[in-house]
Amino acid sequence: MPYLEDPGPGRGSVPARAAFTSDAPALSLNGTWRFRLSPGLAAAPAGIEGDDFDDSAWDELPVPSLWQLHGHGRPAYTNVRYPFPVDPPHVPSDNPTGDHRLRFDLPADWPAGSALLRFDGIDSCGRIWLNGTELGVTRGSRLPAEFEVGPLLRPHGNVLAVRVHQWSAGSYLEDQDMWWLSGIFRGVTLLARPDGGIGDYWVRADYDHTTGLGTVQVETGPDVVLDIPELEIAGHPAGEPLALPVEPWTAETPRLYDGILSTVAERVPVRIGFRTVSIEDGQLKVNGRRLLLRGVNRHEHDPRTGRVVSPETALADVLLMKRHNVNAVRTSHYPPDPAFLELCDTHGLWVIDECDLETHGFEPLGWAGNPSSDPIWADAYLDRMRRTVERDKNRPSVILWSLGNESHTGENLARMADWVRHRDPTRPIHYEGDHECAYVDVHSRMYATHEEVERIGRREDDNARRRDLPFVLCEYGHAMGNGPGGLLEYRELFERYPNCQGGFVWEWIDHGLAADEHFAYGGDFGEPIHDGNFVIDGLLFPDRTPSPSLAEFAKIIEPVRISAGASGIVVRNHHDFVTTAHLTFTWTLEDEGITVAQGVLDVPSVPSGQSVSVPLPVLPATGGESWLTVSAALASATAWAPAGHVVGWGQLPVSAAPAAAPLPPRGPVFRTGGRLVLGAGAFDPATGVLTSLGEHAVHGPRLDVWRATTDNDRGTFAGRPDADQWREAGLHRMQHRVIAVDADGEELVVRTRVAPPALPSGLLADYTWTAFDDRLRLRVAVTPDGEFPGTLPRLGLTMAVPGAFGAAEWFGGGPGEAYPDSRQAARIGRFSRSVDGLQTPYVFPQENGNRTAVRWARLTAPDGHGIQVDGDPVFDFTARRWTAAELEAARHTDDLVPGELVHLTLDVAQHGLGSASCGPGVLPRYRLVPQKTEFTLWFRAVRSR
Ligand code: GAL
Repeated sequence: MPYLEDPGPGRGSVPARAAFTSDAPALSLNGTWRFRLSPGLAAAPAGIEGDDFDDSAWDELPVPSLWQLHGHGRPAYTNVRYPFPVDPPHVPSDNPTGDHRLRFDLPADWPAGSALLRFDGIDSCGRIWLNGTELGVTRGSRLPAEFEVGPLLRPHGNVLAVRVHQWSAGSYLEDQDMWWLSGIFRGVTLLARPDGGIGDYWVRADYDHTTGLGTVQVETGPDVVLDIPELEIAGHPAGEPLALPVEPWTAETPRLYDGILSTVAERVPVRIGFRTVSIEDGQLKVNGRRLLLRGVNRHEHDPRTGRVVSPETALADVLLMKRHNVNAVRTSHYPPDPAFLELCDTHGLWVIDECDLETHGFEPLGWAGNPSSDPIWADAYLDRMRRTVERDKNRPSVILWSLGNESHTGENLARMADWVRHRDPTRPIHYEGDHECAYVDVHSRMYATHEEVERIGRREDDNARRRDLPFVLCEYGHAMGNGPGGLLEYRELFERYPNCQGGFVWEWIDHGLAADEHFAYGGDFGEPIHDGNFVIDGLLFPDRTPSPSLAEFAKIIEPVRISAGASGIVVRNHHDFVTTAHLTFTWTLEDEGITVAQGVLDVPSVPSGQSVSVPLPVLPATGGESWLTVSAALASATAWAPAGHVVGWGQLPVSAAPAAAPLPPRGPVFRTGGRLVLGAGAFDPATGVLTSLGEHAVHGPRLDVWRATTDNDRGTFAGRPDADQWREAGLHRMQHRVIAVDADGEELVVRTRVAPPALPSGLLADYTWTAFDDRLRLRVAVTPDGEFPGTLPRLGLTMAVPGAFGAAEWFGGGPGEAYPDSRQAARIGRFSRSVDGLQTPYVFPQENGNRTAVRWARLTAPDGHGIQVDGDPVFDFTARRWTAAELEAARHTDDLVPGELVHLTLDVAQHGLGSASCGPGVLPRYRLVPQKTEFTLWFRAVRSR
């Protein structure tokens, strides 16, 4: 069998073992290598392993890297489909083949004897030679492979040659939803292995929450001793159990004890976290407590280097997660760089460590030929699982092993589970694809609807085995584009049903690749088959700027919740373990968004799962609408955030806006210069449309119901996409018919019918304008006329104002965007942004930037002149330098070119977001069903204060 098409594991490597460092010499071989890309094996040069092979004409390439991101070949994106014929285990002869060569010398003091050459990741298959001798072949792209090279090494002029193939039999097992990219993409290291050193070890450290005792026992070679200076343990025979009082490790208290494992020949630093994972009463527990997983799925991604993720980037991810209240990560869908898991140990994140396995491309074929149940792949499956567990077994953060993703079910998966259960009985097994839960310990689903989660929570499942297991959503809340909506309702279910233990939002980061002026997605590299922007579905933009969904998620999963109670302020502790003693509580009183008083709130320490009520502080009187904001912040710095970092907040209304003063007399409507004039407004007499306000030329407001559709509006997972129904109803091309413009007396009444071409249904819209001094009041009455199917994208007005009005200020929900089913992160306050700064730069442009519950908004030019809109009481608004149609037509952010005007939407309602791009649609309570609606807005020209 040619090695490329061998369905078995690679060959030549030493048995899998833990990832660790020691005081034995190590030499990183990362750096600049020589590189040559051939279109296939047949075209690749012969003899690259030879000392005298001349690679001087080859290119240079950094290692680690993925060659398509360095100008050799092009990236390609598919979600499910294999980009090559499904003809397992065969792969195309057109198989990009990257030859890599490095010459290196050993440091002068490099010891003689055994040495291992370690590759932490080669995508997808590497054949390796050192000094002319073949070491073997790797498969299992995101798993390490080590080769014994001691006898081959020489002090100077070592020649390492690695031939990497884009496609191999292993590619059939690596069909994760991500870019197809190839190369030596993780580190390469030479490790001296001293005689009598520590070949491998497994620190098993448990915690008994009933006694407070930790037990540590190290599975390793003979004659290894363990020191834990902090616990006054010295020279303890590592293999013998040791029980002693300790502080446990949890994601909330990532307590690690530094220790040393040593023999006479080698010292290995270890970090020991004592914790015990169990399943009791159908619940997943650690140290005796039920967990609520507030998790994310993390792919390794960098917009420039792809799956080459530097330690700094891995740290950035961990810090961002911790700072946004995330407590868990699923390493979808492969073991990450080992450095990431060490960071999870250090900073505290629960981890589902997932094996590098996905065969999703067989699903469209009805799973015919799926490797999961074909014996020729059995060893490869087991090999991948073994390498995952052996590599990461020392990580306390890892609490579940996952067999892989979307590989259907089959004997090979069951065998992996058997092996894990035997090798590591201390961690339960996860795999979503085992729907019957025949060989897993946790019931897992992806994108289950709220109703389905509720049924599982009520234990109404008719499968008895499944019914009694803890339940997790290994994927939910698909964060593609603008969304998801409906996260709050999932949290409510997780809190209502003890067996529903949370889940993992899909996914952490958009996989956009940096192109000239934008981020690229599937199809941007000319791929013949691709899945477009389905790879852009993260809580972070590709450059790791948080998208609004991350703020929303952070708010929904906040570990401390603050709300108004009958007798003051209720503080509820949602941590799974710790009290609130590490937090300080402060309050701020704002009068119409302006801070008027603040102080510290005395909150007694609240145990996990409990709440207290504290009285309101003594507050000064305020004149306008005022709110008390109470925040819980870290009292002192942690490893992941500074003191003062806010983990939770709540707002309590203190006083409502004062009753409006009696209205002054109404102004008359009159005709002059071919215009209708009413107070500060001038109107087109034929259309009744406002054409100027004060000295400012404007156009509109007019009724409008369209929004540039979101990925979720267009999503197909919840039945017929909302966007299809909206288009069919012609909502994107409504026409306005003026029925009457009545300009008699003190009111200007404009009666219109707004309706799509070719259809009989429409909306009757009556606008009634009245002037009170410098203010114009607009009352809008909307009445559906005829059979109006389905929902509306939004309901409100659009209006164009001068482009000079580039600064927005508002009192209402903010600072970020909000939609009916994604608005928890919006607090009531006074905010300002430039019009450009109001935009959320979704990689695939779509509706964005809506500010909600707005009492008033002002748009002004640099000279301070502008307009103000007041709600009666509130409205939603957006302001953009392009129209909704232009936003809809754009495919990348740089397609959006600012025009001459600022376009405003002023809405009484928005349809929710839902998550139909991959999950349930908009929940019934957030659907915007057309019905008779009346709303009022006030307009005036202003000069900013
Ligand atoms: C899941 C899959 C993920 C991703 C997601 C959609 O089915 O496990 O890898 O494809 O859907 O973005």
